[in-house]
Amino acid sequence: MILKDKYGRRVTNLRISLTPKCNLNCMYCHAEGEVDPKTLMSAEDIGEIMRVAKLFEMRSIKFTGGEPLMRDDLVDIVSMVPEGMEASLTTNGTILEPIAQDLKDAGLSRVNISLDSLKPDRYKSIAGRDMLSDVLAGIDAAIDAGLTPVKLNVVLMEGVNDDEIPDFIRYAANHKHLILQFIELMDEFRECPYHMELTGLEDELQKTAKTIVTRRMHHRKKYCLEGAEIEIVRPMHNTEFCAFCNRLRVTSDGCLKPCLMRNDNHVDIRGLRGAELEEKFREAVSIREPYYC
Ligand code: 5AD
Repeated sequence: MILKDKYGRRVTNLRISLTPKCNLNCMYCHAEGEVDPKTLMSAEDIGEIMRVAKLFEMRSIKFTGGEPLMRDDLVDIVSMVPEGMEASLTTNGTILEPIAQDLKDAGLSRVNISLDSLKPDRYKSIAGRDMLSDVLAGIDAAIDAGLTPVKLNVVLMEGVNDDEIPDFIRYAANHKHLILQFIELMDEFRECPYHMELTGLEDELQKTAKTIVTRRMHHRKKYCLEGAEIEIVRPMHNTEFCAFCNRLRVTSDGCLKPCLMRNDNHVDIRGLRGAELEEKFREAVSIREPYYC
């Protein structure tokens, strides 16, 4: 039975945060709304949560963090994803290279990799560590392992990295199976000097793109330009962002999180199994409320 909230929105995608820890310290990080969890879910807890998700006919799992690769049982966790569910992962890519093939073999289908600059010094000042070459190696390894399409998450910031848009497009065009996602900073950063509206870029792409494909989800468009595939992610300007939300989150300390933007309505599922856990899934979905519209 598919879970639906009181607005008729189906919940088909589960995003599981595996750890709040990260080896980078990005200047804009929203840390997936996590607040300093004390205890981590075990791999068994996560396996049980995924089993229940499958029972409710959820179709896809996304592992997030923190940095999910900081968990040394990650490959085991991926191998516990139930048959028929698509599993993907969001990573900073810095420690991906040695483990990309193992993740693929364990059943992971694809990855999103964060990359905000192609210039080593600038990467270091945005991410807090001098690890650009590790990320680039991680991207190549992910493509080679078939964790594709690899989506590159680029958060665009005025005066910080907006001059690199053509470089990113060139980089994407030179790599097969790669989709470039330009992301607008979230609303909390509206007052920041580097906050940048992506309206202009989207208008520009609308004019110059060779082909434009409209995706159902979020009514997001995919632009093809100079051999690169480009998407613009502007959640806060998109009245469809909440209307089309099909996500339920799990925090790394074991709470169901009905909305990315809120920390006041978590549903504790620590240690629960079977029917008790199923009931909590129903409860978390029943309290889902749109945030932006
Ligand atoms: N605004 C927009 N996107 C963000 N991300 C992290 N913090 C923010 C923010 N404040 C995105 C990055 C990263 C992904 C996990 O979340 O693109 O790749």
